Amino acid sequence: MAISIGINKVKTAVFISGKGSNLKSLIKFSKSNKSPISVKLIISNNSKAKGLSYGKIFRIKKRVINFRDNKVFDDKLITILRNNQIEMICLAGFMKILSKYFIKKFSGKIINIHPSLLPKYKGLNTHKRAIINRDKYSGCTVHFVNSKLDSGKIILQKRVKISKNETEKSLAKKILIQEHKLYPKAISKILNL
Ligand code: GRF
Repeated sequence: MAISIGINKVKTAVFISGKGSNLKSLIKFSKSNKSPISVKLIISNNSKAKGLSYGKIFRIKKRVINFRDNKVFDDKLITILRNNQIEMICLAGFMKILSKYFIKKFSGKIINIHPSLLPKYKGLNTHKRAIINRDKYSGCTVHFVNSKLDSGKIILQKRVKISKNETEKSLAKKILIQEHKLYPKAISKILNL
């Protein structure tokens, strides 16, 4: 008898605003037998996000939510997530700060990937700041999301060496390659695999 896989996978939504390379890596991961998640929904606050194209490529439902009013944004988002029985949210280059109300609703179920070794360099321009400060290493962090920006409990980190002539662009590229590996590992870690 064929073994059916994927029945009990954790229904996951990935939130993006741009390119979506982490989204792509999570979708690929979710399709492997050993993955504990199934990517069921792509949410973007930006209708022009390139990553939205992965919805079509991988036949995953996508929704753009870009209401200015935070209350309307939250209500629509929560309705869509509930209707799709979403159990976990992965932020992947999602550039809108989620409200405290929303985070409380999905407490412990939202994770994020950040391109620095947190708690160093919360917020934007992480690579630039690491280079200006002549750090020897930077990297990436997967962490739980709480109401303070980039401050939730750390799940996993990966260190990346900063070379002598490193530029913001070259460092971003090096770290992104590691992000694509770290995010799936962190998910497996929290879902006890
Ligand atoms: C990544 O560097 C991620 O860590 C940061 O935004 C970037 C998103 O890249 N939060 P992509 O859209 O996944 O390609």
